[in-house]
Order: sequence, then C-alpha cells, then structure tokens
Amino acid sequence: MAFDKLQAILGSDAGNKTGATAVESSILISSPQSSLIETNQGSRINFCSNNYLGLANHPEIISHVIEGLQKYGYGTAGARAICGTQEIHRKLERELSVFLKKEDSILYPSGFDANAGLFEALTDKSDTILSDELNHASIIDGIRLAQAHKKVYKHSDVHDLETKLCESADSRMQIIVTDGVFSMQGDFAHLDKICDLADQYNALVIVDDAHGTGIVGRNGRGTPEYTNTEDRIDLITSSLGKALGGAMGGVVSGRASIIEHLRKTSRPYLFSTSLSPAMVTGALKAIELVRLQPSLRQTLATNTAYMRKNLTEIGLPIGPGSHPIIPIMIYDEQLAHSFANYVNDHGIYVKAFTFPVVPKGQARIRIQISSDHTQQQLDEAIDTFHQAAHTIGMMSLH
Ligand SMILES: Cc1ncc(COP(=O)(O)O)c(C=O)c1O
Repeated sequence: MAFDKLQAILGSDAGNKTGATAVESSILISSPQSSLIETNQGSRINFCSNNYLGLANHPEIISHVIEGLQKYGYGTAGARAICGTQEIHRKLERELSVFLKKEDSILYPSGFDANAGLFEALTDKSDTILSDELNHASIIDGIRLAQAHKKVYKHSDVHDLETKLCESADSRMQIIVTDGVFSMQGDFAHLDKICDLADQYNALVIVDDAHGTGIVGRNGRGTPEYTNTEDRIDLITSSLGKALGGAMGGVVSGRASIIEHLRKTSRPYLFSTSLSPAMVTGALKAIELVRLQPSLRQTLATNTAYMRKNLTEIGLPIGPGSHPIIPIMIYDEQLAHSFANYVNDHGIYVKAFTFPVVPKGQARIRIQISSDHTQQQLDEAIDTFHQAAHTIGMMSLH
C-alpha cells in the first residue's frame, strides 16, 4: 500500500522525468569501453564516454590491475580509517599529489563523494560558498550539506561573482568553487580572473577538474596548468572515472593540513568502503601513462580539432572551444531525441541531453572525443551527424 502512495506522489510518469531512457530499452554494452563498442543492438562507434585517452581498456593497465588483484585482493572490506588503507592507497595519494603539484591528496570512492564530503567539512554558518551556476551536481549537493551561506553566480560571469563577493565580504571565509571544465558544454572556467578576485577578497578557490585532469594543459595537469594558475588554486577535486582509466574514484588535493583535516571529518571518506585495489592499481598505471605518453594527449587534441573544424564546416551549431566535450546545440528536446535516435540507428552511439540535465530550451547532443577514435570513425560520425541534421530538419546546412 505504501508503494501505491509513493507512486501517487511521484505521478504515473515516475522514472521518466529525467528525459533518460528506461533501462530495459536502453543500449546494453557487451564489450570493454572503447571507441568501438559491442551492444545488444549491434556495434556502435562510441561518442559519449569519458574515455578521453583510451585508457579504460589499456593492456598495460589491465595487466597491472591483475597483478594488483593477486597481491592485494578484490575488496578492502573497510573504510579508510578502519581496515581500508593498503599501502597502494597511500601510494596513489602521493602520486596524485606529485602529478597535481599539491602537498597531499585524499582519495574518495568517487568524484561525486569528493565534492559531497568537502564543503560540510570545511565550513560552518559563518562562511559563504560562491558557486558557478553550471557547476556539477556533486558540488551542488556538497554545498547543500554544508551550513555555510550559498550564493550562485552567473556562469563564468566574474562581474556577478565580484558583486556576490562584495555582498558577503563580512563572512568569516568565502570559498569560490567552480568546475575547471564545464561538463555539459566543454568550456573552461576563467581561473585567472577568479584567482584575481580571490586575492582581492581573500577567498579560497576550489576547482573541480574532473574533465581536465589528464588531458588539459601541456602535461595533462588540468585546467590550472592550462590557465597558468596552479600555484593559486587552493584545492583541486577530481575523478579517476574519466581520463585516468575511467574506473572509479575521486580525489581532493591541496595543502597537507587541510587534507589531514578532511581525513578526520569528511564523511564519505570516513564512512564508506575504500577504493578496491583494482581501482587503485589501475589509476597508478594510468597516471604513469599520462606522464610518459604525451602522444595520447596530442592525438586527442588532433582528433578534437578535426571534429570541431568539420562539424563547424557542415554548419552544425557547436559550442566554441578546444575541449573534447563538444555540445551540438539542438535546443528543442524532441528534435534532440530524434537526432540521437537517427544517429544511433546508423551505428553511432550518442545521447541526447535534455532538462533537467541541461536547462530548459538548451537540449543538445554532447559528444566526447577520444584519442582512441580513428580518422575513419570520425569521418563516419561527421557524415552521419550531417545526414541526421538534414533528416530531422534542423536549420539550413551547407
Ligand atoms: C565535473 C564533474 N565533477 C564530478 C563528477 C563526479 O565524478 P565521479 O563520476 O567520479 O563520481 C563528474 C562526473 O560526472 C563531473 O563531470
């Protein structure tokens, strides 16, 4: 009976509100993650994964993980502070700190947890957190858990940020938090300008670089490296579920004393099972590959530039920039689904992103480029996107 009540509260279309496809009718993948995947509906060229550097099924990572599993087992069966800290967890924290040029790092079960566990641990009601309106859901939820005052500034609008910093200048502490790369559109935060304001108002700067770490900047150290602000960013949060092997895990890196404070107070760290040795050993190898194989990043940049140039040339309205996240703006939700369906039926795997994942009227196809994509796969996608746009009657194309 209680379920009937819940169903009535949620409404008859419950489960259909996110614009997501019901799991039973969605594509089920039966191969490793790659630029070409096998699915229950046939093979597809994959344009919607965070596997930017093709490390999700890299042979060196797989064999390192197998060795790690044999040595350290499958599960840790405990949170970090109990029996969930193996020597490799500490090793990965040190490697991430060296890579991100920070004093220390703390691992979390996911990037989501890293953000969810951060703000409550650092702030109380005398503080103010200023957050970009397009920040990731995990930042939004992390801030919701904190007692601090919250202010949302307009996307990448430093004037609005300054107005809000001014308004809360009497707070004990102000924290500015931003995605390094905004995940729905692939644009970079203006970290240099944000840091200038932070200096002026003595605010802390936190950057979630989930889509920057490993691929952005000359050495892949992310958006702070790219924007020349590495020394000015106080804390970096990131994910191991994207360029760094695409498995699982999150991290916060920064000053050692703050990281130590998080170990004592941050709830997803204290109260959740620590990362499996498979994830840890895989991430260790992924960081090594990112450091030693810059050619992966170069190929990703070449593929991305090629795709952006060709999509622009055929007249598709893509978001500007240079990041491998490329939004094809369709605006209308129904058209976005039609575009995705057409493309999927023709062997290219993409997803339509609609409200509430993106604002109303901003429906899009978000494609993501990988160093794994071949020239032939990119060309096939460009042709198919072109046909899809014609077929669904999107604007006049060249
Ligand atoms: C900007 C950003 N931050 C955090 C996360 C969460 O990371 P994870 O998938 O490791 O939980 C994501 C993943 O979607 C993201 O895009």
